[in-house]
Amino acid sequence: MNTRTIIEGTTKVLVPIPPEGVSFPPSAAPVFYNPEMELNRDINVAATAAFVNRLVLILRSQRDDIVTTDVTYVDALSASGIRGIRIANELGISAVLNDWNEDSYNLIIKNIELNELPETTTASHKNANVLLHEKRFNIVDLDPFGTPAPFLDSAARSAVHLLEVTATDTAPLCGAHLNSGIRKYAAVPLNNEYHSEMGVRILLGKIARELAKHEKAMIPLLSHATRHYVRTYVQVKKGAKHADKTLKNMGFMSNCPDCGFRKPVFGLAVHIDKECPVCGTTTGIAGPLWLGQLHEVKFCDEVLLELEKRSLNTQKKAMGIITLCRDELKIPMFYDQHVICKRLGISASTIGSLISALKEHGYEASRTHFDGISFKTNAGITDIEKIMLSERSG
Ligand SMILES: C[S@@+](CC[C@H](N)C(=O)[O-])C[C@H]1O[C@@H](n2cnc3c(N)ncnc32)[C@H](O)[C@@H]1O
Ligand SMILES: [Zn+2]
Repeated sequence: MNTRTIIEGTTKVLVPIPPEGVSFPPSAAPVFYNPEMELNRDINVAATAAFVNRLVLILRSQRDDIVTTDVTYVDALSASGIRGIRIANELGISAVLNDWNEDSYNLIIKNIELNELPETTTASHKNANVLLHEKRFNIVDLDPFGTPAPFLDSAARSAVHLLEVTATDTAPLCGAHLNSGIRKYAAVPLNNEYHSEMGVRILLGKIARELAKHEKAMIPLLSHATRHYVRTYVQVKKGAKHADKTLKNMGFMSNCPDCGFRKPVFGLAVHIDKECPVCGTTTGIAGPLWLGQLHEVKFCDEVLLELEKRSLNTQKKAMGIITLCRDELKIPMFYDQHVICKRLGISASTIGSLISALKEHGYEASRTHFDGISFKTNAGITDIEKIMLSERSG
């Protein structure tokens, strides 16, 4: 396999050179490597660092001689090892880098040597599900091709404190490939204007239920989505009671395809109005999905500090995303301004002025990291439309 050395963060990584003339898909090379995921990996370094800072303090309250290398991390689907090698090199925690592909395994070993990592970093050549069933790790990272669904049970079992999950199957998650999504996530999405947030909440709902099987609770610390992937960081807490409390955040989203009315309905066995209370049209239902928080504000601040102090190629972009995550309202499902404007037959204003107008009318309102022309608010659709119309006439 032909390789070249790249540098991400402060880590050197040997990555495969794709066959002549092929740059995409990244799976065309014998070992997978996607340069487009640098942003995701930079955020990963900062988010994992922020969590490790917290974890070391928690563990020290139980045993005062805890050091950073006592924290264990597994990159269960490593490919070149780039994600986990960066964690080992840039954070100094103990890391296992696993891949069942032989070429990957050999490249991981070379990458460990290239960075002169201590023996607390090891390569592993197993089926990820076997490894995760055998061993517990403080932090489990799943970064698969497509869906993480086949690995969530074993990851939920293995993760003691933090579970980090990427999903690149955005079409099934968002409802564009409906049946595939139903099979993988045991949930029904709606493919409407807020489908990206739908995807994050379907994924989180699945993770919450997988953790609950193992009597573990989930606290989402950070979740971000682009057109190509969803990435989430969830804190794990042991205990049946905590798990029961987590499941109280599960529910359904009732949505009117005509007027834009939407309503979260909490619970797993629920009564949902069939008719839209605003216009009488039959509503669509998505779920079961996660209706709780996607981010923890304090954690986002800690991630921002970690991003700020590092030299990263994507630093500015990463900080922009995390700031938007931190500042977006916790209310499920954003509104797309253009969809509402089209229905009203008016032109869109700037998102900033719309948010100010909603606030002036006493509502909470924020931007959202999901989409630059969209917003979140606790105002209902009828009031949003009134405010948008009055802004035009005023
Ligand atoms: C998308 S790639 C990982 C990318 C990598 N995390 C990165 O940041 O570049 C997925 C990897 O999972 C490996 N894989 C797939 N199924 C596996 C399994 N059941 N056990 C172990 N490795 C597996 C594949 O060989 C492939 O290298
Ligand atoms: Zn309606």
